[in-house]
Amino acid sequence: MLNNVRKSFISGVAIVLLLPVGINSAAATNEPKSALEVKPLDERYEDSFTIGAAVEPYQLEGKDAEVLKHHYNSIVAENVMKPINIQPEEGKFNFEQADKIVKFAKENDMDLRFHTLVWHSQVPEWFFLDKNGKPMADETDPKQREKNKQLLLKRLEKHIKTIVQRYKDDIDSWDVVNEVIDEYAPNGKGLRESPWYKITGTDYIKVAFETARKYAGENAKLYINDYNTEVEPKRTYLYNLVKELLEQGVPIDGVGHQSHIQIGWPTLQETEDSINLFASLGLDNQITELDVSLYGWPPRPAYPTYADIPKEKFQAQADRYNALFELYERLDDKISNVTFWGVADNHTWLDDRAEQYNDGVGKDAPFVFDPDYNVKLAYWAIID
Ligand code: GLA
Repeated sequence: MLNNVRKSFISGVAIVLLLPVGINSAAATNEPKSALEVKPLDERYEDSFTIGAAVEPYQLEGKDAEVLKHHYNSIVAENVMKPINIQPEEGKFNFEQADKIVKFAKENDMDLRFHTLVWHSQVPEWFFLDKNGKPMADETDPKQREKNKQLLLKRLEKHIKTIVQRYKDDIDSWDVVNEVIDEYAPNGKGLRESPWYKITGTDYIKVAFETARKYAGENAKLYINDYNTEVEPKRTYLYNLVKELLEQGVPIDGVGHQSHIQIGWPTLQETEDSINLFASLGLDNQITELDVSLYGWPPRPAYPTYADIPKEKFQAQADRYNALFELYERLDDKISNVTFWGVADNHTWLDDRAEQYNDGVGKDAPFVFDPDYNVKLAYWAIID
């Protein structure tokens, strides 16, 4: 498949060179082809894994919805199922937006991932305040610390129980905890020193999985999700933690690899080794937040607009996608789902990141569909 892509690219370049200055090269060389007119991604990979996309509720209508129905057989909420949205105030659960996503998945016979029961970010402050409004993490009295710990674990259990009881028949895989590893953590074990950790140690992780299992049942699929799971030392920190938890009987079914990656990073070998490593513990793997940024780290300089992105960049990205999906397919007995962290290049969190590092101006383009829902070279690279 790569050869075809390369050939059309080379002939594309030849045509561009003959064009008078001022004509948009991308438009002139490649007739845009709508994502709705091409073979569905989920059909292409149906023998290997489900193909998902992260969505906001507004994307469940219009062109996004059409593309979702055509190409994806799995979805996940980009934001509305995070703790800050579901329980912004203690005891006040807000399921309105989350319900919309559940309904859409049901109506369109799609799998649904839950993201995320526990996280240190996008979590309301009240979780970590004691009854007097004082941050529990600052408490020094040992007796009060123990009380605080029990209070926080109770709050955690209630949060999880309420959500899981509501959605247990609708969710195919649960991100139970997100980003509990921090390779720079002062404890030297890679355990993120979030308020969760400062107040409960690693007990919050155990309680989260046990509570999810208790209410979701034996068949529920429970994941520990993180970024940079391919690279050392993070990979080993995550492996050590998961292994220890499994030995203690904590019910973990799989590892979610966020996979916010770049064209040249991490290596394919690292990616393969990581999947195999977690599979060696008897765990499933899911690729949960895939996007292939055009940039390195930090994302600087960035192209100011989509039209500024040169074709070579899109070609390099397509080559990367090609290699990546070849790998995923080869390892498909160890991977059950591949989810993109968005639908098309018109909506990606990476734009915010590019803007942040480039004085408010910067565009990224991490997916296989362009901002107008036309297919990119990356699409052809992964569809065969
Ligand atoms: C992490 C989280 C996602 C999302 C992305 C980017 O990867 O897991 O929910 O917030 O960051 O914003």
